[in-house]
Amino acid sequence: MPEDKPVSFAADIRPLFRDIDVEHMRDLGVLLDDYAYISERANADNVLAALKGDGQTQMPPHGPYWSVEQIALFSRWVDAGCPP
Ligand code: HEM
Repeated sequence: MPEDKPVSFAADIRPLFRDIDVEHMRDLGVLLDDYAYISERANADNVLAALKGDGQTQMPPHGPYWSVEQIALFSRWVDAGCPP
């Protein structure tokens, strides 16, 4: 996706989470499909750290891990202020 195009949660980020990701993480209180939850900066930062495996088990456990491009897109979305 072009670097200058605004990143949207609904259009670009939400589709990257599989049903199994949403369901497993909901049980642990991490609401990957809930815009109000994931757009809170602290939650978005924690999800980004989990996707990268910074200081914790990389998510999803055992992969398939997000590509460098997908992680960069999530990071760009966070930097943009987590727009809907
Ligand atoms: C705040 C961010 C996150 C935290 C703290 C977190 C933590 C955890 C923990 C503790 C488990 C259970 C133990 C384990 O299997 O290692 C787990 C399971 C899982 N997580 Fe996450 N996770 C986060 C984000 C994510 C994200 C972003 C994804 C997907 C892109 C994801 C996908 C999964 C899946 C699919 C499982 C179930 C694995 C299985 O049972 O085989 N998680 N997560």
